[in-house]
Amino acid sequence: MKTLQNLELFAREDFPILDKNFNKKEKLIYLDHAATTQKPKQVIKRINDYYLNSNANVHRGAHQLSAKATEEFENARLTIKNYIKADSEKEIIFTRNATEAINIVAKSWGEKNLKENDEILLSIMEHHSNIVPWQLVAERNKCKVKFTKITNDGTLDIEDFKNKLNTNTKIVSIVHISNTLGCCNPIKQITQLAKNNGSLVLVDACQSLAHAEVDVKDLNIDFLAGSGHKLCGPTGIGFLWSREEVLDSMPPLFGGGEMIQDVFEEKSTWADLPHKFEAGTPAIAEAIGLSEALNYLNKLGLKNIQEYEKELTEYLFEKLLSFNDLNIIGPNPSQDSKRASLASFFIHDMHSNDIAEILDSKGICIRSGHHCCQPLHKYLNINSTARVSMNFTTTKQDIDIFIEKLEETISFLKLNS
Ligand code: ALA
Repeated sequence: MKTLQNLELFAREDFPILDKNFNKKEKLIYLDHAATTQKPKQVIKRINDYYLNSNANVHRGAHQLSAKATEEFENARLTIKNYIKADSEKEIIFTRNATEAINIVAKSWGEKNLKENDEILLSIMEHHSNIVPWQLVAERNKCKVKFTKITNDGTLDIEDFKNKLNTNTKIVSIVHISNTLGCCNPIKQITQLAKNNGSLVLVDACQSLAHAEVDVKDLNIDFLAGSGHKLCGPTGIGFLWSREEVLDSMPPLFGGGEMIQDVFEEKSTWADLPHKFEAGTPAIAEAIGLSEALNYLNKLGLKNIQEYEKELTEYLFEKLLSFNDLNIIGPNPSQDSKRASLASFFIHDMHSNDIAEILDSKGICIRSGHHCCQPLHKYLNINSTARVSMNFTTTKQDIDIFIEKLEETISFLKLNS
């Protein structure tokens, strides 16, 4: 097995952007991987190669170039299928992003299956993309959206989940790893409870897929939403996974080319899976780029990545916890060993935007605000947090520099308050 040091060095040189210097003074330290990951050279090259050598529309042309593009595009689907250990590539629907994947389920499955007074059970830590689509369907179908609370440790309150799960709960839609708290939710336990109750389970895996092995069958879930750009792949590509029989039972959401079998003046019939859900020309180069990104992550090894990031997280927490007035939301690594390699924090009387802007002037990229989790921040009664998010390209030296600059930032803001 690679040592942690080797993994870091091996990965780092594949990301030339990390050696750039944007403010001409300080070395860039990118600590915003939860918002989007940087892309390795291999992914950028693969997209370039596709446009240089294989570009054509897929599933349409009689010519050889179209056949080549189609083969590469469909191979990308196969790579995703293998990455999440699904049964068949028919179960992988390409989408623009995870948001679109969740919207497809809410609109297509939801509008067909949810009746008046049915309940959709979410958690208070959900990203807006796993809240708003359900609010839209709830309004249309006159059903309710409920939220499971979190504990004081910043983890899912499983007792509250059990209390809220009832015979009206038709679907549980929940994040695997929170983009803000960083906690890893006990999906297998949730699925078991939900299945015993006759509810389906959707998992938003945006923050977990690049950091840990995800096996849809082992988790025993019904839907999974993934996002390419959080997986070292390009933007504009994501995917929805579901079991074939569930997808077969759902009506298509978007109509147009690609998704039809036959079109008559009065009606149309649908293509087989997965194309039924993929209207129009898909994001071909992006799908191929995403598959290259997954090959890249597989080569590093998800277990190696997880092990390395765990060590980084422990190191970051040790440093952050030594600040007197800094409050981290979410569990410590000792409370949740599978937690994400990120930390969201606030300091009373300091705005997170000020912290992020000053750090930016020192070459450090972090995110500030509500991270698309307004209900969570309202629940915790805080306006915003500053979030540091790392991945396998981050080094302990990056953390040391961040901590040094954070100390300077806090002193400056205190002096000027
Ligand atoms: N969901 C992304 C984040 O957490 C954008 O920053």
